[in-house]
Amino acid sequence: MLHKKYGLFLLSIIFLSGCQVKDLIPEGFHFISQQENTTKEQTKQKVEQNTKEKEENSAATKGGIENEEELTLDSQFFNEIQEVNGKKLIQNPENFLVLVNKEYSLNDDYAPKDLVRPNVAFSFGFLEQEKALMRKEAARALEQMFQEAKLNGIELYAVSAYRSFERQKMIFDAEINRVGREKAIEAVAYPGQSEHQTGLAVDISSKSVNLLLIQEFENTPEGKWLALNAHHYGFILRYPKGKEEITGYKFEPWHFRYVGKDLAEILYEKGLTLEEYFSKVKAI
Ligand code: DAL
Ligand code: ZN
Repeated sequence: MLHKKYGLFLLSIIFLSGCQVKDLIPEGFHFISQQENTTKEQTKQKVEQNTKEKEENSAATKGGIENEEELTLDSQFFNEIQEVNGKKLIQNPENFLVLVNKEYSLNDDYAPKDLVRPNVAFSFGFLEQEKALMRKEAARALEQMFQEAKLNGIELYAVSAYRSFERQKMIFDAEINRVGREKAIEAVAYPGQSEHQTGLAVDISSKSVNLLLIQEFENTPEGKWLALNAHHYGFILRYPKGKEEITGYKFEPWHFRYVGKDLAEILYEKGLTLEEYFSKVKAI
């Protein structure tokens, strides 16, 4: 306000005297003006600094939230365990998020009640086989995935889906005879500890690797497509490379497990195995 009045007074003098403005501005005024500029510059710098700090803080917080974000899950989706003769037996095997591994086993006589044959191509053609079955919801998701793959020029073949306890035992014993126990247990689950017994797992291959279940599948267009897209249909690559110590199995680019779209997306985005997820998630 004072500056305004002083400015008007100066202008009147200029008008009356014909002097130049600079001749009439007192030192003090000039000083105040410089100080204002400095203050403005300092304020600008401070705002920029604050904004930067805020951005950094928010990035840090965001990172923090992302890293420490609490994963929660309805308690019904956790394994219910009963320990029998030192074995942790799963009491709710129908749970779509059931965790079956070297720690948690299924009962010998468990078989899902809703097994159906998905309408997809099988490596063994139209033969009626137990291994062509999957639980209904997983079967529908598999059909969708194979159809979408086909639209993208990707031809997939299901090789092995459901396996009874007895069949897993045959495969396990045969593998021990073939390569010895130490090697066998890296690749084949002990009977009762295979996800295939849940009817939620499926081994997938392609003609590019002669419909075999081999590591080279990883580098085929089909293997790559599955690794990048299976989660959109609710499947996860269950035994990833680099997580062998966690899953207990060698990398299997062909073995996919149905967990539903919600969890599959989370596991894919966070790069978590099912074991890692269950070690972090809190029951609600
Ligand atoms: N190959 C997997 C681990 C199984 O036998 O279930
Ligand atoms: Zn498998």
